[in-house]
Amino acid sequence: MDFVFANPTKVYFGTSQLPHLPEELLKFGRKVLLVYGGGSIKKNGLYGRITSLLEEQGLKLFELSGVEPNPRHTTVNRGVQICRREGVDVLLAVGGGSTIDCAKGIAATVFADTDDVWELVEGKQSIGRTLPLVTVLTLAATGSEMDCGAVLSNVPLNIKSGLIHESLFPAVSFEDPSITSSVPAYQTASGSADIITHILDVAYLSKPRQMEMLRNIQEEVLRTVIKFTPVALREPDNYEARANLMWASSWALNNFMYCGVQQCPILHAIEHELSAHYDITHGHGLAILTPRYLKYILNAATAPVIARLGVQCLGVDAALTEHQAATATIEAISKLYFETFGLSSTLSSLGIDDSRFERMAQACCHGLFAPDGQLHALADLSAQDVVEILKLSL
Ligand code: NZQ
Ligand code: ZN
Repeated sequence: MDFVFANPTKVYFGTSQLPHLPEELLKFGRKVLLVYGGGSIKKNGLYGRITSLLEEQGLKLFELSGVEPNPRHTTVNRGVQICRREGVDVLLAVGGGSTIDCAKGIAATVFADTDDVWELVEGKQSIGRTLPLVTVLTLAATGSEMDCGAVLSNVPLNIKSGLIHESLFPAVSFEDPSITSSVPAYQTASGSADIITHILDVAYLSKPRQMEMLRNIQEEVLRTVIKFTPVALREPDNYEARANLMWASSWALNNFMYCGVQQCPILHAIEHELSAHYDITHGHGLAILTPRYLKYILNAATAPVIARLGVQCLGVDAALTEHQAATATIEAISKLYFETFGLSSTLSSLGIDDSRFERMAQACCHGLFAPDGQLHALADLSAQDVVEILKLSL
């Protein structure tokens, strides 16, 4: 496939970069809406560092706090009101993917002809002019710090959906891996599962034809995350581990890895249904689904790709037959997620039963990635196939 590659986000990476934050914000104006989550940035001291830096330089701060994991569209709408009322010039999101995505929703809606971001999500309004966004990333996971997507939840409708638009790339992102030392083990593990799944879902497990150079880089990023996640879990302050995970997060989903690939992120489509209905942690849902999905699609056509993944990234013996190697790959992924990363292995452990599987599967197969009622990636899946994969994950 032909492709266009563009990524305009400027990244400041490392422990000494935060002092550049005021000068970057001032390029857009003095009035800043600081968007953050449930308080981790107050506990780890980042809030104090940032507010002092900005106030010293005469920037005027407004705040939207309490952004939920799986951010609600209603929280976005509260931010829109603040921006309009105060004439905010620039958004500053300090947090993980949820906080950044909430800020992207605000950026898209402020100048739109509606008070409700959901009208943009549903395509009733289109995205035009947006507010500029600067981010300070606090969790290595989603890639939102360097991509143009935002995932938002409408709780009353049980829908998790999103906005994708080239004007939603952050203008600038600050990535200081030392900030992620305070990320709890559960979120570290879930974040790493998310990074791994971005590579698998948008690139590695797509239809097989793609550039060998990209496939090799995808494998290198996978090996990096597989190597450093256990280190970060054992030693939360290990800078080398946190730095590798943070940069992997940004590169797994910043448009580079899937140049020319026909994308259909099947695991994400299914997981977004789970978190829309049960408000679970995104990366954990992906980890539970992945081995079951691979097992379900394993056949003569898919075995070579699954086997290569195991041989290149998970220590599977290259001397095995393709089918044996693919089976060993699936076992190795289960071991990685459910033993090494310490994540629980079943949907029922998250309080999920099969009562909504049919509805979720129908939604997956009639969404963005399934225009003809099927999901097409390494294998093609119907709604009935999605139900079976969910049942295997119980
Ligand atoms: O809210 P606070 O108090 O900040 O705590 C958060 C939250 O409880 C905590 N945390 C974050 N940084 C921390 C920290 N705790 C201690 N120290 C730190 N340095 O971690 C918890 C989870 O945060 P959240 O932002 O929800 O996690 P994540 O970055 O995994 O984001 C998940 C959301 O992003 C969406 C997911 O669906 C989900 O809604 N995604 C966004 C994507 C995108 N925009 O491109 C792509 C992804 O595939 C994904 O769908
Ligand atoms: Zn993801």
